Amino acid sequence: MAKKVLIDTDPGIDDSMAILTAFNSPELEIVGLTTVFGNSVIENCTANALRLVELARRPDVPVASGAGRPMVVDAELIAAPVHGEDGMGNTHLPAPQGQPVGMTAAEFIVKTVLENPGEITLAPLGPLTNIALALMLEPKIAGLVKEVVLMGGAATVPGNISPVAEANIFHDAHAAERVFGADWPVVMVGLDVTTRVMMTPAFFDSIFKADTPYTRLLQKMLPVYQGFHHDFYGMNGSVHTHDPSTITYLLRPDFFQTEEWPVHVETTGRCAGFTIADRARQWGDRRPARVCVGVDAVAELGLLHERLTRY
Ligand code: RIB
Ligand code: CA
Repeated sequence: MAKKVLIDTDPGIDDSMAILTAFNSPELEIVGLTTVFGNSVIENCTANALRLVELARRPDVPVASGAGRPMVVDAELIAAPVHGEDGMGNTHLPAPQGQPVGMTAAEFIVKTVLENPGEITLAPLGPLTNIALALMLEPKIAGLVKEVVLMGGAATVPGNISPVAEANIFHDAHAAERVFGADWPVVMVGLDVTTRVMMTPAFFDSIFKADTPYTRLLQKMLPVYQGFHHDFYGMNGSVHTHDPSTITYLLRPDFFQTEEWPVHVETTGRCAGFTIADRARQWGDRRPARVCVGVDAVAELGLLHERLTRY
């Protein structure tokens, strides 16, 4: 029985790799994509999600457009140098054929969870605004969601958008605090593991040999993303594997080592977006999240290579 997954996303170059990997994985049934601001403005993220379901020849998969800004404070959107002005590496792809469904992302999340009690895994790959709004719209979903497996946070390593904050959490720290503070099973796939999985130029050259519509899109999108990783980290064409690692966790959680730590999110000041793992439970009895602290990077890259080259 395939795992029913609802992906919340801000595509996004690594989001695109994650979504295409998910569509190429029969172990997963993608019940919908919900979009959120982050790697670009919401209009681009929604259009890019529609482009991806069409590229995947899955126009039947609904796309619901979501939040265009954080819940409380406006975080500065500085993603263009990372993902391009269009969110897809300045590929400026043709407009999608389809349209988003006529409800918001939060409404779509609530409807899908209520219609499939205990069966839906939420896979947020961007700021957690839609997830928090869905919790506020219908708090019951906390007890009806199978699992929340999110890309975000940094428990044992520095941040990427600030010395302490990872980008998805930083872009809506108030939403993240609600998500980590709710009584539901959360898995945090953070920078602790995603920065240990490096897609190298040799990895990409090998993928490009498959010469499929997926790999041709990746080949066009990646230079902007590789350029950011070189300018910021000096990575010479390699990139971190953020969102695809979340899909890997859905497919092979045994590739990861985890700890059960309550996670609190700082929401104000210069440390906003800091995900604090309360290892000794000094701040009370918040439900622990399953925090990924280790990964078999070779195994993960082998799986991603195999799935990204299918068509
Ligand atoms: O920090 C990495 C995360 O921020 C990824 O989800 C990437 O797509 C961006 O959204
Ligand atoms: Ca993302």
